[in-house]
Amino acid sequence: MELNPWGSSTIKDYDKLTREFGIQKMPNLGISNRYFRRGIIFGHRDFDKFWNADKRSVLTGIMPSGPMHLGHKMVVDQCVFYQSLGIKTRVLIADIEARVTRGISKEQAQKLALEEYLPNWIALGLDPKKADIYAQTNRSVPYYSFYSLLSGRITLNEMSAVYGNLTPGKITSALVQMGDILHPQLPEYDGPEHVLVPVGADQDPHIRLARGFAEKEHLIKPSATYHRFATGLEGGKMSSSRENSYIALNDPADVAVKKASNALTGGRNTAAEQKKKGGDISKCVVYELYAYHFAKSDKELAEIRRKCTTGEMLCGECKQMLAERVGEFMSSLAKKRERAKKEVGKMEIFR
Ligand code: TRP
Ligand code: SF4
Repeated sequence: MELNPWGSSTIKDYDKLTREFGIQKMPNLGISNRYFRRGIIFGHRDFDKFWNADKRSVLTGIMPSGPMHLGHKMVVDQCVFYQSLGIKTRVLIADIEARVTRGISKEQAQKLALEEYLPNWIALGLDPKKADIYAQTNRSVPYYSFYSLLSGRITLNEMSAVYGNLTPGKITSALVQMGDILHPQLPEYDGPEHVLVPVGADQDPHIRLARGFAEKEHLIKPSATYHRFATGLEGGKMSSSRENSYIALNDPADVAVKKASNALTGGRNTAAEQKKKGGDISKCVVYELYAYHFAKSDKELAEIRRKCTTGEMLCGECKQMLAERVGEFMSSLAKKRERAKKEVGKMEIFR
């Protein structure tokens, strides 16, 4: 079954993106994870090298600023998937980045990481005992000396070419992020290995810079996968700065249900028109939520798509089912999160 949940216009945009930035298109490798199967991960750099490597790990960073929402869940799900395959998983708290780019204090960052982000990660399936979890402000010495070494190996012009407008804070956080991505390969840590960084396409500048550094420092170039953006509930991008654009994982279930019920659809102006033409799933956030998170199987997703595009099902019914799913998911997550908080309480991340 070929599942391609998006309309051609969206796909064209992602095509353009891959062409312009030299991102490879994700081939079908038969990986049994919905982000791969459903084309949500659309591109990569050297994924094949990572996938075929014996020594490998997955790494991602959490910036403790703003609420954790469904957009963030996409990376968590991917890490949990790799962890289930026995692949070493590294999760870092980007508290230096939060401090220098968002003015978030040490206390605020710690509170967010320990009370919201990590409990949600664990509630979503991360096994913290099998993960390497650290905070940027609290790693061991070779990490910082590597970071300062990187700052001497790049010019302002090279950085501007990748990032555009820079500030000292952005420079610091970009260099620390390079340190995050590359330091596992240092002899003081695990030595040369294939590190995969699963990201949204907006993080590609970091990936390009890290790969450039890797070459200079004789390390293995990190691999990356790129997933589609989470669309905001009212269209546009899902963003922490607009409360109605996201479902936060800490939203009370009834609030989340209400937000899901008000999400943008690809519905037509009248029921009659929709019965005739079907809905426009390429514009439909409800459909995207099913595709990314809430469809129980590919078969069910295909059925939703069929019923929508043939006009057999109208948006009211479709949203009603989504809202129920969201409610169930949120209540179950909240219970798991409360249990996870106790576990996080015992972890020593910010000594
Ligand atoms: N910059 C990332 C963000 O804004 C967080 C981050 C820091 C990160 N270091 C990283 C992500 C290393 C991936 C790999 O969310
Ligand atoms: Fe979207 Fe469902 Fe309406 Fe189709 S029927 S446009 S999938 S909400």
